[in-house]
Amino acid sequence: METNAASATSNQTHQHQFHQTPPQPYHKHHGLLHSNSVFAIIIATTSLIALLAIFFIVLILRRLKSAKKNANWQRGNTSYDKSINVAQNPAIYNCSPDVKGGCLSGGNLGRGSLEAANGSNKRHGRGVQVFTYKELEAATEGFSERNVLGSGGYGVVYKGVLSDGTVAAIKMLHWQGKQGERAFRIEVDLLSRLHSPYLVDLLGYCADQNHRLLILEYMPHGTLKHHLHPSHSHSQHRPLDWGTRLAIALDCARALEFLHEHAVPSVIHRDFKCTNILLDSNFRAKVSDFGLAKMVSDKVNGQILTRVLGTTGYLAPEYASTGKLTTKSDVYSYGIILLELLTGRVPVDSKRPPGEHVLVSWALPRLTNREKVLEMVDPALKGHCSKKELIQVAAIAAMCVQAEADYRPLMTDVAQSLIPLAKNHSISSSNSLRFQNNAVSPRC
Ligand SMILES: Nc1ncnc2c1ncn2[C@@H]1O[C@H](COP(=O)(O)OP(=O)(O)O)[C@@H](O)[C@H]1O
Ligand SMILES: [Mg+2]
Repeated sequence: METNAASATSNQTHQHQFHQTPPQPYHKHHGLLHSNSVFAIIIATTSLIALLAIFFIVLILRRLKSAKKNANWQRGNTSYDKSINVAQNPAIYNCSPDVKGGCLSGGNLGRGSLEAANGSNKRHGRGVQVFTYKELEAATEGFSERNVLGSGGYGVVYKGVLSDGTVAAIKMLHWQGKQGERAFRIEVDLLSRLHSPYLVDLLGYCADQNHRLLILEYMPHGTLKHHLHPSHSHSQHRPLDWGTRLAIALDCARALEFLHEHAVPSVIHRDFKCTNILLDSNFRAKVSDFGLAKMVSDKVNGQILTRVLGTTGYLAPEYASTGKLTTKSDVYSYGIILLELLTGRVPVDSKRPPGEHVLVSWALPRLTNREKVLEMVDPALKGHCSKKELIQVAAIAAMCVQAEADYRPLMTDVAQSLIPLAKNHSISSSNSLRFQNNAVSPRC
């Protein structure tokens, strides 16, 4: 057993020795393994680097793609911003006549472009469009005399048919220089942002080189003036009946209520008069011409001090004498419109007898006297309107035209008072019905 143990020990020692000095071939095999694993590590590292490189290339490509998308989106946004700020940047109006729709933001502007993006625009989802001068020349048969609807302080207005068949009123600005540019920009900026059924819609505009044109909703029955005070050329118009006059008074009150109380910031029209009240095919009234409008955000110490602009006969006394402009200046002008609707007289008429030249001075002392109110009524309405309603409208007019601006009512209150009166009369879309005498008694 000991011998076996000794021989086992000697064997172990021998084996130990054998391990300590490995034979040559074994040593060679171990070297081969080492170089193989180095090779494997190199391959693994290279593939890892290649994979990482591919990963980074994919990442960069994805980044590039999304950056491109962002740039497009931002370009879209920039055009929207530009269009909103159109009134502040005259430079962007300059464009070549051949750049179709290329003046501003690729063809859309302001509220229009926003609506078009939302798919909620009224006119075929187009919003406020940019037209070239050539397109408008085509729409108006070369601005032919035959298509002239009228002319006013702003310029000549033509009837035109746009390429999509829409009939429009195309207004060509004749003012040169700063004042004209300002009126044009205010009109485009305000009408693109303000939308109400009581305001004439802006369909588009053209700012091709020196040409400045507005493309407006066509109002087939023209201005309130044509019907209330027809000139020789409009003498075929039948006088407006009492119900239609009340509906017009309410529409105008709603228009000013919208500008004063719903627009943010509030807007003072500043040129509210009967040529700026237009009538649609149903004799519903809409207000136009914002070239002189002012935003109430421009005010200092609660009022705007400005150059007196507007139309004689419609100017509030405090505005005419000091240039102090508030929404109450529009309320005064609105009161003058009510007086015109009641009496059928123009605001200033030098052909009338002394003491009757200025409508408001003649009417004011009579407005609160029942008998005198009945004497004041438009001869065309005599016997065809309700006494009670006449007296109520006269009382509203008296409040609107009072000298103290603070005591004039808000347009919301005026609208509320007129609603029940206008409701008493059928508001039919048919012309014949519009001119019928309404059965309201007792008669004036
Ligand atoms: N949107 C419209 N639709 C139909 N006729 C219009 C429209 N706008 C203006 N007109 C006509 O053009 C005439 C001139 O309008 P405008 O230039 O606004 O002058 P004004 O200084 O009299 O307000 C008006 O009297 C009216 O007959
Ligand atoms: Mg006008």
